[in-house]
Amino acid sequence: MSKEKSSSISQPVNLPPGDLGLPIIGQTLQLLFDQQFPEKQYAKYGAISKTNLLGKPTIFMIGSEAAEFVLSSHMDCFSWKDGWPDNFKKLLGESLFLQDGEEHRRNRRLMMPAFHGQALAGYISTMEEITQRYLDKWTQKCEFNWFDEFKQLTFEIASQLLVGADAGEDVERLSGLFADLTNGLFAIAPFELPFTALGKAVKARDLLLQHITKVIEDRQKNPTKDVLSMLVQVQDEDGSRFGIEELKAQAMLMLFAGHETTTSMLTWLCLELGRHPQVLAIARQEQMELATTGSLNLEQLGQMPYLDQILQEVERLRPSIGGGFRAVVKPFDFKGYHVPKGWQVLYSIRVTHKQEDIYSNPEKFDPDRFSPERQEHKQKPFSLIGFGGGSRICIGIAFAKLEMKIIASHLLRNYQWEVLPSQNLEPFPIPTLRPRDGLKVKFTKL
Ligand code: HEM
Repeated sequence: MSKEKSSSISQPVNLPPGDLGLPIIGQTLQLLFDQQFPEKQYAKYGAISKTNLLGKPTIFMIGSEAAEFVLSSHMDCFSWKDGWPDNFKKLLGESLFLQDGEEHRRNRRLMMPAFHGQALAGYISTMEEITQRYLDKWTQKCEFNWFDEFKQLTFEIASQLLVGADAGEDVERLSGLFADLTNGLFAIAPFELPFTALGKAVKARDLLLQHITKVIEDRQKNPTKDVLSMLVQVQDEDGSRFGIEELKAQAMLMLFAGHETTTSMLTWLCLELGRHPQVLAIARQEQMELATTGSLNLEQLGQMPYLDQILQEVERLRPSIGGGFRAVVKPFDFKGYHVPKGWQVLYSIRVTHKQEDIYSNPEKFDPDRFSPERQEHKQKPFSLIGFGGGSRICIGIAFAKLEMKIIASHLLRNYQWEVLPSQNLEPFPIPTLRPRDGLKVKFTKL
């Protein structure tokens, strides 16, 4: 044995501090049921600590520096594909979310144009039409649960613009199937029986795929203006296109990623505006002034600095997704601790957004922290990561922001709402962050 090899074997490995919990399940239950678990890990151990989730040794990485390490500077140490739980692969297929390296880069490059620039401008009228239909429905209903309503609204926008579903019956059926699919993603029991969450999710996946396959075949013959039509036609430099299996998986992912998250942010946006009348008044004023310059278009949507600040603050204080998993494919050192290959990492978005050295009074809802004078998040890179960060930042970020701004503009210009009493509005994190009882409101036209 060479000297170098024997010395590396005898060196003690300085693993991060932390508790591996019970045999097999480790600290999985703490993560699922104690909402403050990542906060407690951070308070006790700092930016890096170890635990065990469902038999996998897991490293918590928390704070801007840790986020930059995982999302950017050392991303070659991590795999997305092997990082997400097996149910994601089973239910969402080989889509962008679960790809790495060259395969991921090629597919992201092909998908990108559908989510940016001119393509976005083409989505505005459909987003507005669908939004207006829901606003009329809400005015008639007067009292309702906004989380449930936003879920339908964002699903309708996603299913029409992303995969070209027809309005009405299609959307209702697909939305029901999607609810079953989402329940299966985080199911702990691995049994695929007709009555288990996973069994129902697999059945829903098959029905969704049947629908998506039909739409793809149709779009191949008659392309329209939805994202799927663009993906059907797009070509790589060498002329290669997405195959049918790839298209099916990407379409499924877009539907999943494109509406749960947006529903979560819209619900918190309306709740925080309901709780902070002064913020609401300034946001309304901004919209009323813009309304005098004509109807909503891409240019006008780019001139809403105060609404942008509010959305940033909702992203910070109420991030839809609490964090992200990665598999460690290359051993690495961080803050003097060593992490071996084969472990997994969970980087925290939620706790990173509460760093006291960056955000003053971090529990307070304060959109002014993003004003041009304060710009608290600019003190350190990777401090605001509600859409992830680095080269794999959310591909739908501009689509989601466009949608949320259109909905918010209409709400602020023409409607008012009151948060009803006697409901539990505590944040509940799974699968995306929402007030526990949804958000019951009384809604009227101004
Ligand atoms: C408010 C709305 C949204 C939020 C908060 C959000 C959040 C995120 C986050 C945090 C990530 C990174 C996860 C990680 O690092 O593990 C991500 C990635 C992703 N998101 Fe979103 N998202 C939103 C809307 C959308 C929409 C509308 C779509 C599109 C259809 C979408 C598609 C994706 C995809 C495909 C990825 C993976 C990108 C890649 O790996 O290259 N998201 N999103």
